[in-house]
Amino acid sequence: MIKRTHNCGELRLADVGKDVAVAGWVRSYRDHGNLIFVDLRDRYGIVQLVFDPEISAVGHELAEKVRCEWVLSASGLVRPRGEGLENPKLATGQIEIAVSEAEILNVSKTPPFEIDAAQKVNEEIRLCNRYIDLRRPIMQARLGLRHRATKVVRDFFDENGFWEIETPMLSKSTPEGARDYLVPSRLQAGSFYALPQSPQLFKQMLMISGLDKYFQIVRCFRDEDPRADRQAEFTQIDVEMSFVDSDAVMDVNERMVARVWKEILDVDVALPVPRISYAQAIAEYGTDCPDIRFDMKLKDISDIAEASSFVVFTSTLERGGIVKGLCAPGGAKFSRSDIEKTLTAFVADYGAKGLAWAKVVKSDTGEAALASGVAKFFDAAQQGKIIERFGAADGDVIVFIADKAEIVNKSLAPLRVKLGKDLKLYDENRFEFIWVVEFPLFEWNEDQRRYDSLHHPFTSPTQADMEKLETEPANVKSQAYDLVVNGSEIGGGSIRIHNIDTQRKVFELLNISKAQAEERFGFFLKALQYGAPPHGGIAFGLDRMIMLLAGTDNIRDVIAFPKTQRGQCLLTDAPSPVDKSQLDELNLRTKRPPATKEEKE
Ligand code: AMO
Ligand code: AMP
Repeated sequence: MIKRTHNCGELRLADVGKDVAVAGWVRSYRDHGNLIFVDLRDRYGIVQLVFDPEISAVGHELAEKVRCEWVLSASGLVRPRGEGLENPKLATGQIEIAVSEAEILNVSKTPPFEIDAAQKVNEEIRLCNRYIDLRRPIMQARLGLRHRATKVVRDFFDENGFWEIETPMLSKSTPEGARDYLVPSRLQAGSFYALPQSPQLFKQMLMISGLDKYFQIVRCFRDEDPRADRQAEFTQIDVEMSFVDSDAVMDVNERMVARVWKEILDVDVALPVPRISYAQAIAEYGTDCPDIRFDMKLKDISDIAEASSFVVFTSTLERGGIVKGLCAPGGAKFSRSDIEKTLTAFVADYGAKGLAWAKVVKSDTGEAALASGVAKFFDAAQQGKIIERFGAADGDVIVFIADKAEIVNKSLAPLRVKLGKDLKLYDENRFEFIWVVEFPLFEWNEDQRRYDSLHHPFTSPTQADMEKLETEPANVKSQAYDLVVNGSEIGGGSIRIHNIDTQRKVFELLNISKAQAEERFGFFLKALQYGAPPHGGIAFGLDRMIMLLAGTDNIRDVIAFPKTQRGQCLLTDAPSPVDKSQLDELNLRTKRPPATKEEKE
């Protein structure tokens, strides 16, 4: 039997004199001839073992053989470290264990990278050897944080009367805007299950069943191109409630989030979380994910630009475009090349055709005025208006983009975030939460010449706009809400349509024919006709929440076994080819041979 009385992180001076047994991995060893020191690591910490031949000759002999990452158990007496030999960096740094007995539980090959220096190791190598990467204390701390945060979530919902109910993984497609992962059926040859993009329709049906308050910490699958904050397979905190309005859903869920931030980081989130309309978010921040940790709001100066002599602006306005800008405090320190090369190239990536700029200086009369850049195209009165609109001061720089509204916003929004960070306009450790509300129900898809749902097709229009569904769908607002933290969307939801006629009308506007609706959602349309209560809910991206709590901007840091940007699991080499017999059983034939290793890269 393996003896283990303590873990490697818990022994202190108060334990001196105790006979203890620990087990773990060899982090390092130092052979001082007579004495051998081994740092032993487990999930809880690191403890120093001393192998002294005077205490145990056998133990000392064994220690001579030990190498990094071997698995050991050791027992002995806790004693204080010698004068001046304490290690203040370790929680156990004041003691050591004088080993009387030890056993090698397993040997290890030399690991492909040094655990302590792994931060600098290429992520691909870490992912190929994830079980070793996960020995790193920082990775273990993140997984521990994830465990604790999900426990807080479960406790919170339990205390508030929610039941956790599992919904199927093998099911039918739910539209959340991505491609489905399909699973072929053996028993129903030629048919496929879809892995859920979210449990959306099942949770709505649970409300129809009268389950009243549901939540689930649930895996979702979306075949879209992964990004820094996205995975093909990710986890949602999924919530649904009956007989509620938006306020009720936002209230309970912001309290859940506040509880998580309090218990995990001891951060107080001021409740209620402020709200901003979608229209205002776009106007002031250029995005529906505003980072409100700093001000630097976008301002529309179309009215002033119209009267200027700058043709780039006036001609854009004539074509129906707009001119917006932002004022970077202290930005006058940027050189012409900083603005005309670096910043202009930055916004060009988002489609902007240029970046006009002017510095704010003190004029001879002591008033602020514009200088250099496009200043010459504006007379004194126009300059005064611009300075006033931005609240600009001597030493600032104002940058402008003229284009279609969409391009202006799409370019200025990331520029604002970049400048906010570069100019250190906010405290990186602060959290600012905001609800974005009053979304439009639809957005026009110019390529397909039809409407798309901004949230999803089950989102209810506001009561006030119900009639506009017939007359002016583009102006219908929805009862949807997103929770944004420091510019990152961590959750989104809505009050749902519970009336079959409204649901049919919305499908029609989305260009989903009756036959298509029947084929894809017939089961749900049927359910809606058996006493669907008014209901609504939300889903949070758990991985994104954990990223914020853990202070990392890489989603793979908070997932034990993540996939790469190409959707591969480097550890298991999934996805991988299967035997012909398996394909035969599933009645499948592939159109081309599986990609070779080289092709995959
Ligand atoms: P939505 O599609 O907005 O809504 O998803 C909810 C939240 O899930 C997170 N998220 C992701 N996280 C990591 N990787 C991804 N690929 C990914 N996609 C989404 C985001 C997002 O805010 N059924 C609706 C919710 C509802 O209406 O109740 C839904 O899934 O943080
Ligand atoms: P140009 O007339 O193209 O040499 O541009 C003169 C200045 O206006 C340069 O600083 C450009 O970056 C800027 N500029 C050009 N197009 C735009 C635009 N659409 N919006 C803002 N600035 C622009």
